[in-house]
Parts: sequence; C-alpha cells; structure tokens
Amino acid sequence: MKIFGIETSCDDTAAAVVEDGVKVLSNVIASSIDLHQETGGVVPEVAAREHLRQISPVIDKALADADCEWKDIDAITVTTSPGLIASLLVGINTAQTIAYIHQKPLIEIDHVVGHVYANFLERETEPQFPLLVLTVSGGHNELILMRGHHDFVKLGETLDDAAGEAFDKVARLLGLGYPGGPIISKLAESGNPEAFKFPRPMLDKENKLNFSFSGLKSAVRREVEKLEKANDQTIADICASFQQAVIEVLVDKLVLATQEQEVKEVHLAGGVSANRLLRQMTREKLPDKLPVFWPIEQIFCTDNAAMIASAAYFKK
Ligand code: KG4
Ligand code: ZN
Repeated sequence: MKIFGIETSCDDTAAAVVEDGVKVLSNVIASSIDLHQETGGVVPEVAAREHLRQISPVIDKALADADCEWKDIDAITVTTSPGLIASLLVGINTAQTIAYIHQKPLIEIDHVVGHVYANFLERETEPQFPLLVLTVSGGHNELILMRGHHDFVKLGETLDDAAGEAFDKVARLLGLGYPGGPIISKLAESGNPEAFKFPRPMLDKENKLNFSFSGLKSAVRREVEKLEKANDQTIADICASFQQAVIEVLVDKLVLATQEQEVKEVHLAGGVSANRLLRQMTREKLPDKLPVFWPIEQIFCTDNAAMIASAAYFKK
C-alpha cells in the first residue's frame, strides 16, 4: 500500500511516498530556514507564504522521485496539528483538494505521532511493544508509552520550553543563528561541559516525569550578561555546559521512566534526537539488554512527510 504524505506544520514544506509504512519511496523537503536566520526563529506569516510557494513543486517531485502517478497512490495523509495554524492550513487544503480530485481516502495525522513513526521508517525488524519514546523537538518534549500501534499513554511532558526550543533560544542569546541545536552541538565539541554550572531541573515528585527548561535558559542568560566580552572558547564552554545540562535531564527522566514501566525498546524521536550526546548518553545509561532506536536517517529526525505517511499506514 502506497501512502502520499504532506507535512507543513512549521518551516519545512514536505511530501513523501511510503510503501507499507516502512519503505520510503521518496522524501522531499523544502526548508525556509534561511529566511528565519535573521529573526533567530520562525516567523509564522513568512513560513506560510513559503509553504504556498513550495507546495506544488515539492508534491510533484515527491511523486516523480517515487516513480508514481496518482493512480498508484492508495491514500493521502496530512499533518493536521499541532503547529502554526496558517502553515498547517496550506498542507490541509492541498491534501483535501488532492484527495477530492483523485478520489482517495484522506488520513489525518498528529505531528508528534508522526515523529514517533519516524523510527519505523526503513526499519528491518518488527517493533516490540510496549516501547518508550522520548519525543524531543522545537515544539514538543514528551515521554510516551507506546503499547501498540496508535495506542499511546503520555507519561510526561514539558511544563514550559521544549528541549529544542531551549537550544534555539540559547543560540539566539549568543547570536549564533537558527536552528540552535546543530550549531550549539557543533560548538560544544570544542568546549568544556563543566566550565559553567547550569541547573538540572528535575522537579518535584508529582512532576518527576515532566520537564522544565525555561529556568536553565534564564541561567544561561544571566551568565551571558555577566560576561564583558566573550571569546570563542567561552562561547564553546557555554554551549558544552548548556548541552550537558539539557541532555542529562532528558536522559535521567528517560531512565526513570524505564524503571517505572517495563518496556522492550526505547526510542528517541524529533529534531533533538539528532544530537550525538543524547544518543550516546541514552545508550550508556540504559541496561545493555534494552535496545535503543533513533531514526535510521538524519532527515527522519527533523520534520518530514515520510514519518506522517508511516503513521497513517499503521492507523487502521
Ligand atoms: O522536529 P523538528 O524539525 O521540528 C519541530 O517539530 O519542532 O525539530 C527542530 C528542533 C530545533 O529546535 C533544533 O534546534 C533541534 O530540533 N535540533 C537539535 C539538533 N538538530 C536539530 N537539537 C540539538 N542537537 C541537534 N543536533
Ligand atoms: Zn517536528
């Protein structure tokens, strides 16, 4: 079964064709990131306008790359929430029009559920349920128990900023550009993670599987304000210390969740799952016998439409 997916929830205009939920026949992404560099974050109207400009060529390319025509496609799927409303609407309207013209079923998918299914793309083994997913991205930060296909229990979430958002805000504070995650993790490679003592917000008993990153971001801001003139090494040290604090909190909570829930696999998903330190620490801190997965290809970590098409296939 071939599903055509569309994703426009933030700043990426994406379309893909996925066969049987796993095999990626095409995965096209046009990003408007360059346009958001100056503002250090996504400007909703700019993103929506770019989606309008990109959606048709992206869809044509996704179909062509998969060597398909509409008659070969069994269903259309689209991200319906959460996201920037004007951006989402471009994808939704387009998907509805295609489904209507070509008489195909239309399947609605939640963006975070899409990220969860990024770990199913190109996977060769069957997933073993129940499994635990940490979805970490610019817009969301959740610990999810997945008991079966589309059977989720939310164990924890962020009470304020998501981890990726914290990376983006700290990068903006340091004048480093957007998106912050890849830039900060690169600079952190030459920094000392112990140079600055940033807080590890673990929260009280009631909130022990929830997250909170806004205090950490403020702590970074206070340090930055104290610095009269930051040289490259100081910037790298701030990046490394900040990254260490975020990742330690994420991994500690992940470990805590595996102690409370008996799971057969642990998955990392969303933009921040591309982070090397997160992958490494997750592997180190969990028992060897517990398999850890993250998206097979780097482009499955950040927003894409293949993950949406996979989620749609398994939504029966
Ligand atoms: O999943 P995604 O493309 O969009 C949302 O759904 O939000 O994630 C984008 C987020 C951005 O906040 C970006 O800074 C972060 O993922 N990110 C990273 C890395 N690569 C992307 N954060 C930390 N380390 C990375 N290597
Ligand atoms: Zn996302």
